[in-house]
Amino acid sequence: MAAAGPDKPRVLVTRKMMPDAERRIAAEFRATLNPDDRPMGKDEILTRAAEHDAILLTSFDKLGPEFIPDLPPSIRIIATHSVGYDHLSIPQAKAKGIAVTNTPGVLTDATADIALLLMLGAARGASWGDRMVRENRWGETTLVSPMGHDVSGRRLGILGMGRIGQAVAKRARAFGMEIHYHSRRAVGPEDSHGARYHAAFEDMLPHCDFLSINCASTPETRGIVNARTLALLPDGAIVLNTARGDIVDDEALIGSLTQGKLAAAGLDVFKGEPNIDPRYRSLDNVFLLPHIGSATPGTRSAMAHKCIDNLAQFFRGERPTDLLTGD
Ligand code: DGY
Repeated sequence: MAAAGPDKPRVLVTRKMMPDAERRIAAEFRATLNPDDRPMGKDEILTRAAEHDAILLTSFDKLGPEFIPDLPPSIRIIATHSVGYDHLSIPQAKAKGIAVTNTPGVLTDATADIALLLMLGAARGASWGDRMVRENRWGETTLVSPMGHDVSGRRLGILGMGRIGQAVAKRARAFGMEIHYHSRRAVGPEDSHGARYHAAFEDMLPHCDFLSINCASTPETRGIVNARTLALLPDGAIVLNTARGDIVDDEALIGSLTQGKLAAAGLDVFKGEPNIDPRYRSLDNVFLLPHIGSATPGTRSAMAHKCIDNLAQFFRGERPTDLLTGD
């Protein structure tokens, strides 16, 4: 569905967005929407891109490493409907002169809320508890079984103290938690919410009853939660991931969960999602969600409008607010 307006820039929108955002982009651009929300593969996006000046895509699109080099010359800007941009190579985009923007800030609270949901859900058995009620197994509850794990007053380690990590720390304070964090740099006292900085990830791990992964997926962080680092956690620790699945080595995490090193895990993101390691489905001590950190109408609408704002700025000749390919 392409809107009228021959002089307006042409934007290919790969997935269905919130209705208010679709109305706006159709009014401001010649937008090709995807009303049936049929996922397009890399080849289809590349073919259709030839008739467009810009692409509004998502981290759910399967693009592959050669996506940007293979883009037709008509494409001048990519706006990703996500804060994470590990699905796009910024150096390749720069080399090709293509601008890339993302959506920081507007999904911070929604994602931090999901991190707390994972913490509570994994620790207190939301997944198995829900199944017990649905399967009419309430009668199996006794004074000593089943049991969850305490959250309040315990120690939380945050890997990645950007906006979302800080919002997790702020929420964890309400649970009286002792908070630690590891990031490339320490943040100021107003942003750390009383959390203690560890310059080395390994030094933080022995202090973590809970480890919340909130860093970007980069060459430095991919696989950083692995057999060696998981072994440094206290026995019975709980791992939570709302960032990206490839930060975790699945083999090591599943091994730690099945061998009793870890008490539980709460995961909203997975390597290779939606084709996740099938072993997660049969573990009772994991609380699993389908990458819904930003999935509220207000948040998804704000993300889409941020993409449109960035596209509008770019085509007016201004520097987009969320430009990733700048100097
Ligand atoms: C993000 O914005 O990066 C979310 O994880 C959705 O992709």
